[in-house]
Amino acid sequence: MGLGEGIDTKRTLVLKVDKESPDLEKIRIAAGIIRRGGTVAFPTETVYGLGADALNPAAVAKIFEAKKRPPDNPIIVHVSSIDDVHRVAEEIPEGAYSVIERFWPGPLTLIFRASRNVPKTTTAGLETVAVRMPSHKVALALIKESGTPIAAPSANLSGKPSPTAAEHVLRDLYGRIDALLDAGPTEVGVESTVLDLTADPPEILRPGGTPYEDLLDVLGRVRLHPLVTAQRAISIEKPRSPGMKHRHYAPNAKLILVEGSTADKVAMKVLEVASLQSGKRRKVGILATDENLHFYRRKPYIVRSFGKRSDPSTLAKNLFKVLRELDDTGVDVIVAEGVSTEGLGLAVMNRLRKASGYNIIRA
Ligand code: TXA
Ligand code: MG
Repeated sequence: MGLGEGIDTKRTLVLKVDKESPDLEKIRIAAGIIRRGGTVAFPTETVYGLGADALNPAAVAKIFEAKKRPPDNPIIVHVSSIDDVHRVAEEIPEGAYSVIERFWPGPLTLIFRASRNVPKTTTAGLETVAVRMPSHKVALALIKESGTPIAAPSANLSGKPSPTAAEHVLRDLYGRIDALLDAGPTEVGVESTVLDLTADPPEILRPGGTPYEDLLDVLGRVRLHPLVTAQRAISIEKPRSPGMKHRHYAPNAKLILVEGSTADKVAMKVLEVASLQSGKRRKVGILATDENLHFYRRKPYIVRSFGKRSDPSTLAKNLFKVLRELDDTGVDVIVAEGVSTEGLGLAVMNRLRKASGYNIIRA
């Protein structure tokens, strides 16, 4: 650390790296920080993560502090090899191998029984551990060079939309973390799918970058936890995934979600809700899709498209970024278009429903 340690506000070291062929020297600087028990934000293919040595409780505690994360919310452990999985999981059930083979490295997190090596700080005291092998080259290189599995939640302040670009990380965490590896915007844009392999049948606890349909294809049987598809607040006594119960993904503005059977109907209802809100002297933003932009022309609202209905991967990729952009315009209310829950649409709609606090209007 620099001369000013303990005097100045702490600064965050920003290291820019190429996403395809990251400069090994910079990766090694970041890995050194991890090994010494520090915190490093880094890109994955889903969103940016805030990493620390998963096996060092004091290091993991810094993640909770930087993010202001509730201590009962466990953290995903990121690995770069199957050997790493054996270091943190008690056992890999037989059925897991087909899933690992098909989806790793990639946007899928698997829940295993935790090995005793994993500190309680990482698992929030659960008997299980969440493990993921990301496909982003910078993430893989960092884990490898650190020589330890890396615990990493999304690199946002708890409750804010997940960061899909280095700027978002700096906005939320500058001065609160030791370093950031900046490799530009992330590809997938929503977090990984969380799949519990200790349940029978396997259960999706959070929909994400690996679609339900693809998992069903490989596993034959997969359950969706009721909270994954919830369209209203459900109280669950003992949530399987503690993150489920926390309010999440929320922009500062109030969000109203409009769901309906066709794109036209949704747009008509969005206009109705927007006009009502505007009548209450609220500054209104619309989270729109490309196909519907023409409906909002010459209307007095701040309109941003987050992608194409015909290609849900564009919606997933832009969702959190556009929510942050709309917030930055200072709108009081965001009226959001609902989309189909097929493929990546399920993750998108899960995040929008949660962001709305289940304030959902049917078209
Ligand atoms: O794509 C992602 O998953 C990103 C990148 C950085 O890898 N990470 C991420 O982490 O989204 P986080 O902490 O924001 O979300 C992790 C989710 C939380 O809902 C948490 O409760 C759940 O995974 N989780 C972690 N460990 C668990 C466990 N042992 N059992 C059940 N759920 C668990
Ligand atoms: Mg998160």
